[in-house]
Amino acid sequence: MEDIDKEKLPHHIAIIMDGNGRWAKKKLLNRISGHVKGVNAVREVITACRELGIKVLTLYAFSIENWKRPAEEVDALMGLLKEYLQKECEEMVQNNIRLNVIGRIEDLPPDVQTTLRETMEKTRQDDGMILNLALSYGGRSEILHAVQGILADFQRGKVKPEEITVQRFSQCLWTRGIPDPDLLIRTSGEFRISNFLLWQIAYTELYVTDTLWPDFDRQELLKAIADYQSRERRFGLTSEQLNGREE
Ligand code: IPE
Ligand code: IPE
Ligand code: MG
Repeated sequence: MEDIDKEKLPHHIAIIMDGNGRWAKKKLLNRISGHVKGVNAVREVITACRELGIKVLTLYAFSIENWKRPAEEVDALMGLLKEYLQKECEEMVQNNIRLNVIGRIEDLPPDVQTTLRETMEKTRQDDGMILNLALSYGGRSEILHAVQGILADFQRGKVKPEEITVQRFSQCLWTRGIPDPDLLIRTSGEFRISNFLLWQIAYTELYVTDTLWPDFDRQELLKAIADYQSRERRFGLTSEQLNGREE
């Protein structure tokens, strides 16, 4: 059991759940079997985060770029998502978990959109943890969407250029109201961001593990949190300033 400090937990954990395809390949299975197995890891990590008292968990489940994958794989992923939400909704309510979605929801198949809206509605009052699902998500699109909103407000005379601060811009993103991630985990060893939360990760601690997503479990999560807790987050300051030992 990893030793973690319950007083220094990350408030918001974001995860790039990568490696389902490689997991399946290693086992000589098709890619879709990897996604099916990946759902178990999703369930385990959500439960573990809730038990630990993590306040926001953002999961990158499907990127805008992922639409370019073979239709069969895209259909299977959409089917798994719908099935997951239908099966887990009751459990989410019991565990006080609120569902939120970031991304171009309008791109998703209509039945999936309906299930998402129903689940968000049923979990609306829950305040134990926010499960923030990134679906048809892209960081660049999110930023452009915010810029378009601000320009529309400018044209209507509702905002002046000098009023557009970092705080105000953040409130125009799909993640409005949600604090930036403290810890970003990527499974499967790739050192890249793949268009995830580009604006929000300015000062996020990054953790990359070689473990493939279907093998990621509670223990792996604790390892990532322990690593996070060993870091000094300086936000541009000096170590001495942070420790109150400024000469
Ligand atoms: C992550 O696993 C799941 C999604 C992107 C939807 P991948 O399907 O990307 O798995 P690899 O990267 O091919 O191993
Ligand atoms: C990132 O994984 C997207 C999700 C986990 C949903 P990808 O597998 O799509 O990323 P790349 O293609 O390796 O950058
Ligand atoms: Mg991948």
